[in-house]
Parts: sequence; C-alpha cells; structure tokens
Amino acid sequence: MPRSIAVFGAGYIGLVTGACFAELGHQVVVRDVVPDKVAALNAGDVPIYEPGLSDVIARNAGRLRFTLDAGEAAAGAEVVFVCVDTPPTASGDADLSRVWAVVEALRGAVHLKALVVKSTVPTGTGAKIRAYLDRVGLGHVGYASNPEFTAEGRAVADFMHPDRIVIGAFDEASAALVAEIHEGVDGPVMAMDVLSAETVKLTANALLATKISFANEVANLCEATGADVERVMGAVGADHRLGAHFLKAGVGWGGSCFPKDSLALKQLAANSGYPFQLLNAVIEVNDLQRRRAVNRLKEQFGGLSGKTVALLGLTFKANTDDMREAPSTVIAARLLAEGATVRCWDPMARLPQHEPWTLTTRHSTPLEAVAGADAAMIVTEWPQLRDVPWEQAKAAMAGPVLFDGRNLLDPQAMAEAGFTYLSVGRATTQP
Ligand code: UDX
Repeated sequence: MPRSIAVFGAGYIGLVTGACFAELGHQVVVRDVVPDKVAALNAGDVPIYEPGLSDVIARNAGRLRFTLDAGEAAAGAEVVFVCVDTPPTASGDADLSRVWAVVEALRGAVHLKALVVKSTVPTGTGAKIRAYLDRVGLGHVGYASNPEFTAEGRAVADFMHPDRIVIGAFDEASAALVAEIHEGVDGPVMAMDVLSAETVKLTANALLATKISFANEVANLCEATGADVERVMGAVGADHRLGAHFLKAGVGWGGSCFPKDSLALKQLAANSGYPFQLLNAVIEVNDLQRRRAVNRLKEQFGGLSGKTVALLGLTFKANTDDMREAPSTVIAARLLAEGATVRCWDPMARLPQHEPWTLTTRHSTPLEAVAGADAAMIVTEWPQLRDVPWEQAKAAMAGPVLFDGRNLLDPQAMAEAGFTYLSVGRATTQP
C-alpha cells in the first residue's frame, strides 16, 4: 500500500532512501536545509555522484519532490525518515542537533504514524526521542530505528537488495509499518528492540574497519618479512568463517561512516564505563597507515623537500565524489609539511576549498598530473588507473618512483615499465 513519506536530509543516505521509496511506489517528499540543493533537485539536477541515482530520481519524478519547509514536509506525512548527518563533536560524541531539529519539527504532524531514524545515533537515543514524543503529545506516533548499511558507489543496489533490513521498534505496529514500507525490497527483515538496532550499525562498521586495519597490519608485517599480503589475505579470506571481503590492504579506510562510527562506538563504550580497547588499536592503526605511506616515500628519497609528488585518486574510495575523511587529505598535508610540491588527479572528487587542497594543483588526466613529478602515488583505486599507458607516464616523469597505495597494478609489469614500484605488503620491484 503506497504511503506518504517525508525524508529529512538530502545527503547520500536521504536521497537514495527517498528515491528508492518512490521507486517502490510511495509518495515521497525530501526535505533539506540547503536552498541551492533543493532548487537543483527540483530542477532535476542531482548534486552528488551516486551511480544509478539520477535515473531512479528521474523515473519517479511524479512521486518525488523536494522542499525546504520542514513543517510542510511533516504535516502531510504518515511516516518520517530521519536521514540527517550526525558528525562527531569536539569530544568525539555524535552531534545529534540535526536529529533533534527534525523531531521538534513534528509537532504539527497530525497524520504521522511513525518516526523512523536512519541516521547513525548512539545507543539510547531512541528512548530519549520516545520520551520527548510522549511529553509533547505525540504519544500516538510510533518510533523505529532502521539503520542504513548502503555503501557509497553502490547505494541504490544495496538499498534494493540488502543483506538485511534491521528494524528496532518499541511496539509491534510500528515495526510492521516500517516492514510494510519496504515491501518490494529484496532482503530479510530482522526485527528487534531499539537498543539492539541502534548498536548494530556501529558494530558492523567497527568490525569492517577492524578487518581492514588487521589486513593493513599484516601488510606491514609482510613488508618486514618478505611475504606477499595479497597472497596471504587471499588464502586467509578463502576460509568461509572469515570471509574474503574487507581484507584489502592499502592506505587505510576513510569516508563518512567508518571513521565516525568507530569513534562513536569508542566514545559510547567509554561513556558507558567500558573501554573498548580493540577499537582504539583499530583507529590508531588506520591513522598510522596513511602516515606510513608518506614515510616510505620519504625513505625512498632520503627526504621529500623539493620533490614533486603526483597523487592519483583523491576520494576516499572509487566510484564516489566524496572526500570525507579521505586518506588523500592526510597524505597531501604530510607531503606538503615535508616540503614536497603536490600535483593531483581525480575524475570525480569535490575538493574542499581549504588546505591542503588549495596548496596543490589539480590536473585533468593522470598523465598530466605525473608530468615532471619525481614520484607518483596511487591513493584511490579508480579503475581507469589500470589503463594508464604507464611506460609513457614513466617517460614524462622526472623520477622513476611509483607508490601504489591500493595494490592496483602488477609489480612485475610496473618494473618492466621502468618504475621503482612500491606497494602495500608486497616486495618492491625495480626496473
Ligand atoms: C561503509 C559500509 O560499507 C556501509 O555498510 C555503511 O552503511 C557506510 O560505511 P562506505 O563508507 O560507502 O560504506 O565505504 P566502504 O566501501 O565500506 O569502504 C570504506 C573504506 O574502507 C574506504 O576508504 C575503502 O577504500 C576502505 N577499504 C574497504 C579498504 O581499505 N579495504 C577493503 O578491503 C575495503
């Protein structure tokens, strides 16, 4: 049965959620606070790069609209989904002010049956919102936690074919309503209490981040012993109890979720009186992994002062334009601090207008970026980097050093192309 849904927040999660609910047949209004964004969306422009999203939005234009007006969005809705961001505060706790702003906008929402929070919030937030709703006369509005597990770059497919749909509610009717709205989504519903649902998202992201940090430590060990991390983790991941995913060594994890959620879980644990020691190491390893990449380049040259380094790929992973917590930002800043000149290339990145990016030059192709550089460093695994004519790139460079921070290329082939080729957890090859 089609429902009237209001989605608050037109970011990566809110836009995908709104568009996919419209695709399922619901009437959806997406509300955001940024006037330019809402105007662009109403004009048919999608302000973020997410494969397939523009098509879903265009296809469902008749069931999907965008507004700045919170009261209007909430007034006509049967169900409100909260998809606003919850960035870390100075203390590392999640900033819930945007979530509360949505909750406070619901006072006139007479048709509202349920409030559903997709934003990642600390365990216990749902109970506080429930108490608030009861206090302001919205006791009839159900509350559900419905954490989001979509990954950027494949969010539309993840939404439509999830591994699970987690629904935590205080009452069965609200859980049933949220499950009903998902009819047509190809994934099992896992219903549970609100506290557990809130904990699932933080735990899943922290465990995925743990796998990557573990693989990165094994890579660093492989560099010391001469083993090859790709072979090691390939065979380790073949054990079905461990799983092959998220064992790829590199320059560390970034993005809008892992850094924020691992920190949020760490703070939540500490605030609850339990220090989550494993998580401290996971975060620390990730921080060091980015710096280690620069240190290895520094060792190669005996210092980076006066050197020119080309960074290839800047986004936190491929197939997104998102620069949030991208390892490239720390790498660029460290290179500049060591006295290097930084050139860069990325096909999609929306570069922030502040340092270190204002101190680098951006080029439109990898070949242009590496021209005259002493070293090139692959930071993001953009597939087009496989197809660079590397012999030509080498000829255009001032020096022969290529650091592959994502193990994207074949060490032997790169040595044959004339490079001193460094990668992560694999032996360095020479021309
Ligand atoms: C992640 C979760 O996958 C998703 O379920 C959640 O909803 C949001 O956070 P996302 O941030 O889009 O999604 O990116 P993801 O593909 O998970 O990658 C996160 C980071 O880990 C990236 O920087 C990526 O490059 C890195 N990574 C991933 C590795 O370094 N090695 C791997 O093996 C996998």
